[in-house]
Amino acid sequence: MVKLVWKNKNDFLNDISRLKTIYRDYYNTFEMISQNNSTSKNQNGNNMLFWGDNLNVSYHLLNNFEEKIDLIYLDPPFFSGSNYNISILEGEAKYDSIAYFDCWNKDIDSYLQMLYERIVIFKKLLSKKGLIFLHLDWHASHYIKLILDEIFGKNRFINEIIWYYYNKYSAGKKNLPRAHDNILVYSKSSDFTFNEERIPRKKPTKQLKREMVNGVLKNVKDEDGHVIYRTVTDKKLDDVWKIPCLQPASKEYTGFPTQKHHDLLDRIIKIGSNEGDLIADFFCGSGTTLVVADKLNRKWIGCDMSKYSIYLTRKRLINLRKMETRHPIELYTHIDEEKENIINSGFFDKELKIKRK
Ligand SMILES: C[S@@+](CC[C@H](N)C(=O)[O-])C[C@H]1O[C@@H](n2cnc3c(N)ncnc32)[C@H](O)[C@@H]1O
Repeated sequence: MVKLVWKNKNDFLNDISRLKTIYRDYYNTFEMISQNNSTSKNQNGNNMLFWGDNLNVSYHLLNNFEEKIDLIYLDPPFFSGSNYNISILEGEAKYDSIAYFDCWNKDIDSYLQMLYERIVIFKKLLSKKGLIFLHLDWHASHYIKLILDEIFGKNRFINEIIWYYYNKYSAGKKNLPRAHDNILVYSKSSDFTFNEERIPRKKPTKQLKREMVNGVLKNVKDEDGHVIYRTVTDKKLDDVWKIPCLQPASKEYTGFPTQKHHDLLDRIIKIGSNEGDLIADFFCGSGTTLVVADKLNRKWIGCDMSKYSIYLTRKRLINLRKMETRHPIELYTHIDEEKENIINSGFFDKELKIKRK
């Protein structure tokens, strides 16, 4: 089997029981959001949003959620070499900040190690029927595919989905403009949830009516021996998805850089899970996965280390709760001095306008 090696490669599995114990009681609830202001635990378990590093959060979750998560979607930094800046409008005041870092000083070893040690633990959290969708692009997807082969097994590769975003400007003087991302899909076992998705055809098409006879596909014929046609208006979704990049005019647009289109997540969640299943996004950004999971009646766990991400995710989920009755949300973090100051300053309730730069 081909294996990727890099400087200081380590899966930390020898240390797992120690790390589980260290992080067992590491997080505190700092807010509970429910429509009727009840603070009691929902009998099906609350949705959970963690503000912190997803590595420590996943060690924490191993205590109660091992093999409990049905679908994991990950949209990590892509090793793009840039940081993602935002400008913030707070009343009359305007200031700049960083939404998240993706500048690794060309140190691919650190990047690979960052994802490797996390994916090893995320796999432990995935249920036996679970799927993982890992969203990347040309910068590192070829390396990470080898890492996924190593962690999940080559046979657990399901698909490489090409997200073709035709509406994003991409310069390309000495190369073709880049217009797609890669979403690698792996399963935990050979028996996994996979729902068929169908999409409408551009125009109705006449097709031969066929049926399976003793394992062989045969044309259906009428009494006179003529083949029979049927008109089809939809088709099975394949692995190239033409979905636009989210535009500022969209109602869902938050201003968070690299916010993914909700239609992309809608497909992923419908394919890989059923109502009531538990979905996790450990790099949740502006919370797209959690919002879509919530609307599709899935339970969810979200995590991000950026306060702007938690700010936007929380706002989006509260807005959803203004319109419909939904499960409560618990917000967790490890409350150190810095976090305590941010929470006590009322940061999450401020009216901020966030714009990508
Ligand atoms: C590409 S963005 C996700 C965008 C998101 N899918 C959306 O639709 O808005 C990546 C996110 O990962 C977060 N992140 C990066 N490293 C992290 C870590 N170690 N733990 C938690 N979050 C992390 C960043 O703060 C950033 O918000």
